[in-house]
Amino acid sequence: MKILLLGRGGQVGWELQRSLSVLGELVALDFDTAHNPDGLCGDFQNLDGLAETVRRVRPDVIVNAAAHTAVDKAESEPEFARTLNALAPGVLATEAAKLDAWLVHYSTDYVFDGSGDQPWRETDATGPLSVYGQTKLEGEQLVAVNPKHLIFRTSWVYAARGGNFAKTMLRLACERDALTVIDDQLGAPTSAELLADVTAHAIRAVTHPTQGQPALAGLYHCVAGGETSWHGYARYVLAQAQALGWSLKAGPEQVSPTHTASYPTPARRPLNSRLNTTKLQNAFGLTLPHWQQGVARMLTEITGKQ
Ligand SMILES: NC(=O)c1ccc[n+]([C@@H]2O[C@H](COP(=O)([O-])OP(=O)(O)OC[C@H]3O[C@@H](n4cnc5c(N)ncnc54)[C@H](OP(=O)(O)O)[C@@H]3O)[C@@H](O)[C@H]2O)c1
Repeated sequence: MKILLLGRGGQVGWELQRSLSVLGELVALDFDTAHNPDGLCGDFQNLDGLAETVRRVRPDVIVNAAAHTAVDKAESEPEFARTLNALAPGVLATEAAKLDAWLVHYSTDYVFDGSGDQPWRETDATGPLSVYGQTKLEGEQLVAVNPKHLIFRTSWVYAARGGNFAKTMLRLACERDALTVIDDQLGAPTSAELLADVTAHAIRAVTHPTQGQPALAGLYHCVAGGETSWHGYARYVLAQAQALGWSLKAGPEQVSPTHTASYPTPARRPLNSRLNTTKLQNAFGLTLPHWQQGVARMLTEITGKQ
């Protein structure tokens, strides 16, 4: 099996390079063509180059981990965000359909308006509040043009590699005596590792030569188990860090809650980012571990302690 991975340098892309490597031949492309073999194009601004790349590689599966993920910046550059989040995935879907290939794509809780207090199901009405959410929703629709698609909506992604919320909280807790963090947005921090592992399992499930179940194509919610607020997340990170021996100026007790309204940002965020993962767990026979498990693992990894 030949797999074409786009966005290899991102949080999820980096972990996919690991998890997909056992499934077959992996062609993993960077955004910068100069870093790619044979001049293959991985730049989502170059739609013709992207289509040509798919025609040249002729993959059995395309996995798209590239996106415009700067949520606030997207508000001031909507056309650019639309190109990366919708038009380029649309090109991948068109080219995948011509090859009868699978297309795996990631989307977001930001397609919802964040109302209510129940975890969103795949069948619930969408209502994005931001350019990022709108463009990701359009991307889902364009990807689904290829019947052989897997779309995973996720939330609050983090990885040991690169910057993330947990690392920012740790840095601030070393510098300041007290922190203030939003407590009225609820969701589940989800590791890039978990997404990459679920992706590999799901690809295997739909493409296996004798036991493959192509009818599993579709849209799935994929987040870690449990739920928390950014405030709860920050407190957990600091408590774990202290247990790992970090010397912090601000511990978990020095993290005060605040409301979204007191922290204005260019893009509106959904308050209720909970995603119901029953469909995914039942379809693929998977168990999604509690969010604290992945965050604890990441903290252990970045602190280099056991
Ligand atoms: N991060 C989250 O909290 C979150 C939440 C829900 C859903 N998601 C979705 O999950 C998926 C993976 O997200 P992530 O957290 O791994 O994002 P990420 O770390 O920001 O990675 C995005 C990747 O896209 C690349 N990229 C940027 N501009 C590009 C262009 N013009 N052409 C090609 N590639 C380009 C980036 O390259 P550079 O690094 O070189 O810029 C990076 O490798 C995305 O679909 C995202 O929408 C993320």
